Amino acid sequence: MNTLTTPTRQSGLPPGPPAHWWGLNHLQTMKPDYLGFVAGLQRSYPDIAHIQVLNERITHVFHPDWVRDILVDQSANLIRWERATEVFSTSMGQSVLVTEGAQWQRQRRMLQPGFTPKRVAGYAALMVLAAQNALDALTAQSPGQSVDMDALMTEMTLDVILKALFGAHQMTNARPVSEAIQTLSHFAISEMLKPFSWPLWMPLPTVRKVRHAQRTLDHIIQQYIQGQQAKAHEIGQDLLTMLRQARDPEQPDQGLSARELHDQTMVMFQAGHETTATALTWWSGLIARHPDVAKHIYAEVDSVLQGQALTPSALQQLPWLQASLKEAMRLYPPAAVLFTRRACKPISAGPWTVPQGHLIAFTPYVIQRDARWFQSPDAFQPERFLPGAPDIPRGTWLPFGTGPRVCIGQHFAMMEMGLIAAMLLQRFSLQWPVDAAWPKGDLAVTLRPTTPIRLLLQPRGAHCGA
Ligand code: HEM
Repeated sequence: MNTLTTPTRQSGLPPGPPAHWWGLNHLQTMKPDYLGFVAGLQRSYPDIAHIQVLNERITHVFHPDWVRDILVDQSANLIRWERATEVFSTSMGQSVLVTEGAQWQRQRRMLQPGFTPKRVAGYAALMVLAAQNALDALTAQSPGQSVDMDALMTEMTLDVILKALFGAHQMTNARPVSEAIQTLSHFAISEMLKPFSWPLWMPLPTVRKVRHAQRTLDHIIQQYIQGQQAKAHEIGQDLLTMLRQARDPEQPDQGLSARELHDQTMVMFQAGHETTATALTWWSGLIARHPDVAKHIYAEVDSVLQGQALTPSALQQLPWLQASLKEAMRLYPPAAVLFTRRACKPISAGPWTVPQGHLIAFTPYVIQRDARWFQSPDAFQPERFLPGAPDIPRGTWLPFGTGPRVCIGQHFAMMEMGLIAAMLLQRFSLQWPVDAAWPKGDLAVTLRPTTPIRLLLQPRGAHCGA
């Protein structure tokens, strides 16, 4: 499909629905269902839409060429929406997720070597171990049980990120951690729709809950950092060691300060497991709902792995599995909305110019369901991503974002999800419970199912370690 357009310069602002009462009409519609609001906007204005909300002017860009042009080629003239970075820095400090300019460049340069495909392959054994522990525990329970997939995936991905960050570890109870992360996620998304935050010293119930969640995570991170310091002679190839040893190539005598080390560890911890757990939860539900697709993946997993332990290279031989993960993230991108950007200079969006000071929004959930680029856009059809299928137009599949601020953990995430998904299907067939309804998406920081995805897990017989 050809997505190229020849811009004929347009004057004035891009088209969009009228604002009544300074855009309170938009605010009212977007608050209960933000994604529904943006999808409606895109139906009326397929490529670009401008709206006013209170004192902000926001341009939603949907055309994939323009999205790429802005996020890749004009990224130097954008910063992240200040309100979002303010909210995220409450729990993630001055980490690579929220910093800008020279500070961000320095941090990204220092972290990048820990996330190259080669380095990431070094974490595979730890990932397999985490998945094996959780699946062994599941196998020991009664067959055909109904399993809350979000809880299972969160347990596995939490274990993976802890092992990758801190080396082998054993966390006895992961529940307080995942609850703390959920609290901070919900807080972050609700705060972003408000013009100001309550100071964190206010004795309000929500504020107290958020402070408690923050203290829980801070405490755990500090414990691990100090614990690793005490066992310095055992330090291996984990991410924390990489962060400690990271040097800025432009100032080789400078490492991360103690505060930066804490903040970067916190961001990896938070950004690095909720996203993958969410993607795997939706994926597992889709597999259970689509036995016609699942049969290809079971066959592939059985013939390639033949009951053997999984390695990163074996993943390359599982095209249906990889395609199903990509398709699940097309329909349910964990980061359904990218960070909104502020234009620091006028920004070209195809034939339009977004004036300096305006906000620009990108919504993968909507862009990835555009019928112009994806036939039957709401259908789960992993065939679209199989080798030999027609190319997916660039800029239409954005679960990891694009441009210089693309997700630093994308190779890590793809490998982790591939390993966990393959190991799960090696051992269990996933069945959708009769009469269970398919959930909608709930936009917290990640796109979570509104009601839990519970599946029946039937053991499939022989597997590695059985
Ligand atoms: C399925 C899993 C994941 C998804 C869908 C995802 C998605 C994203 C997206 C969309 C962005 C860019 C946001 C924007 O441009 O507005 C991002 C940034 C980021 N992600 Fe991920 N992510 C995933 C896994 C991970 C993992 C495993 C890690 C680390 C271990 C990680 C760490 C980060 C960091 C540090 C950033 C900020 C990068 C920067 O601004 O330079 N993510 N992620």
